[in-house]
Amino acid sequence: MSVLIAASILAADFAALGDAIAAAERGGADFIHVDVMDGHFVPNITMGPPVVKSLRRVAAVPLDVHLMIEEPDRHIEAFADAGAAMISVHVEVLPHLHRTVHAIKALGAKAGVVLNPSTPVGAILEIAADVDYVLVMSVNPGFGGQTFIPRSESKVRDVRGLLDGAGNHAPVEIDGGIDRHNVARVVAAGARIIVAGSAIFQTPDPERATRELKAAALAAVTSPAAR
Ligand code: DX5
Ligand code: ZN
Repeated sequence: MSVLIAASILAADFAALGDAIAAAERGGADFIHVDVMDGHFVPNITMGPPVVKSLRRVAAVPLDVHLMIEEPDRHIEAFADAGAAMISVHVEVLPHLHRTVHAIKALGAKAGVVLNPSTPVGAILEIAADVDYVLVMSVNPGFGGQTFIPRSESKVRDVRGLLDGAGNHAPVEIDGGIDRHNVARVVAAGARIIVAGSAIFQTPDPERATRELKAAALAAVTSPAAR
């Protein structure tokens, strides 16, 4: 599998999201990553289903919706109806994760589970065969522009091993502090969906930044170190 880029619009100008999406797509973004925050699970508040619905109208690529909210079960249907192709939920808030994962799939979206930096990989052992992707947080969720936590690299490797052990070829996604300098390390560790916000939208030329990030990611997957 090749490496795919998910451009996180959290770092974009919220008054011009259509322009931001178009620029990332011209640069080769494979997904638009939408960070949903509720002010409870994480300190920040961002956007909800009505915004996702509007983004769906202007985005050519699928929407990857990352729910950083306390009660995702109450909202997954609204996000699926709004046009989310991928919906990921945090294991930290879900005692009935198996039910939630299957509810997302029943709504026709890909189901992802997310691990905070302090959450052990073993938390997804029993669900490893059921998920469509696993998102490894490489910062504590809540804000863009934070520094990559180095231990995330070995965590990606461990999640890849867990999925392989379950016979599941689902991709590992990584989110937080990724740029064109550290992307090769996480790709070599097994990450195949790369979320980037600041490294794309906090630059003068988001189209070019997307293209350069993707090139760096793809170079790492074809290098011997990645095999
Ligand atoms: C953090 C979000 C990330 C964030 C990444 O809570 O889940 O998706 O937008 O932003 P950067 O790439 O700036 O770390
Ligand atoms: Zn995210």
